[in-house]
Amino acid sequence: MTRLLFTPINIGQLSLDHRVAMAPLTRSRAGAGNVPNAMNVEYYRQRASAALIISEATQISQQGQGYAWTPGIHSAEQVAGWKAVSDAVHGAGGHMFLQLWHVGRVSHPQFQPGGGLPVAPSALPVPGKTFILDEQGNGVWGDVPVPQELNLDGIAAIIDDYRHAARNAMLAGMDGVEIHAGNGYLLDQFINSNSNHRQDCYGGSFENRARLLLEVVNAVVEEVGADRVAVRLTPMGRFMGMGDDTPKATFGYIARQLSRLNLAYLHLVEPAMVGTVLDENYDPNWDAIIKQLRHDYRGVLMLAGGYDQASAEKALLDGRADLIAFGRPFIANPDLPARLYGNHALNDADGSRFFGGDAKGYIDYPVLAS
Ligand code: FNR
Repeated sequence: MTRLLFTPINIGQLSLDHRVAMAPLTRSRAGAGNVPNAMNVEYYRQRASAALIISEATQISQQGQGYAWTPGIHSAEQVAGWKAVSDAVHGAGGHMFLQLWHVGRVSHPQFQPGGGLPVAPSALPVPGKTFILDEQGNGVWGDVPVPQELNLDGIAAIIDDYRHAARNAMLAGMDGVEIHAGNGYLLDQFINSNSNHRQDCYGGSFENRARLLLEVVNAVVEEVGADRVAVRLTPMGRFMGMGDDTPKATFGYIARQLSRLNLAYLHLVEPAMVGTVLDENYDPNWDAIIKQLRHDYRGVLMLAGGYDQASAEKALLDGRADLIAFGRPFIANPDLPARLYGNHALNDADGSRFFGGDAKGYIDYPVLAS
């Protein structure tokens, strides 16, 4: 049997000895001040046998937070918290990129500086909820208000926040950063035509709607070097009200622009994923866009979304991707690469403990007996 998952690959300056990556997974368990804590260190250390760990989405600024208990990378305490994580992962022989996140409109005044409205390309209603704190400090799902439209100064400030966050990720000992441009968050809100009704140079044509993403990527590349930068996209994603009039043209353009930058990798989520769940009813022709983007993007391509061992091997064999990121399987199987390698059974993930809570369903999944 072909074992392409267990062949080496280089991304940027890293030599990975296999191709089973850990997808970014929000677990909403950061400590006070949105600082990674000892439990988070243990969670990532347990998963260091991944070819590459991509951290949970991590807000670049206070404005970029949209959910309770998610970590940040904008304060000195957060940098120190992440440094403990990267030290543990490196100590266990692993590699790690930090996922940089700005939620844009998917937020709530309780997270915003001064209690203001969340920011977005356009002031449009948001179909979705976010995880906020009630008066007792318990996590509850809350409605997202109509956001405020960003002006040009606000956009420039966000680009600076990405620079600062990328610099902080390096101080925190990360091997690189993955810019989260999917799942209906800020950069995706700019890309998709139904969430971006702007009339200025950041709206209208797909080139204009891709402008913020490309400016952010260029700023982060300037800051840390292209070989430490990756981008995650969810083309044709529908989570949080996303939708684009010309997805092939829009995402093809983005892939070709990113292709010129020699990034560490491009990470795509299969379009049949809606947020965290596989949409069984999705148009089966969606894979045409993945194939097109594979053609448009000339560097290392990572794919995620509903993969198991057989489909991952097939994707590599078919040349559909170079690496596969596993999400839910990594939540439940800290030693996922060893289990796939040895064809061992997998633990099931407990979805009720994905977001928030304590060590249960977080750092207590069993590993294979050694
Ligand atoms: C996710 N996903 C996700 N994606 C992302 O880019 N940043 C994130 O922080 C998160 N957080 C997150 C939390 C949880 C609990 C789940 C289940 C998913 C999406 C994730 O990276 C991945 O694309 C999907 O889970 C699909 O892959 P699997 O789970 O089918 O292997």
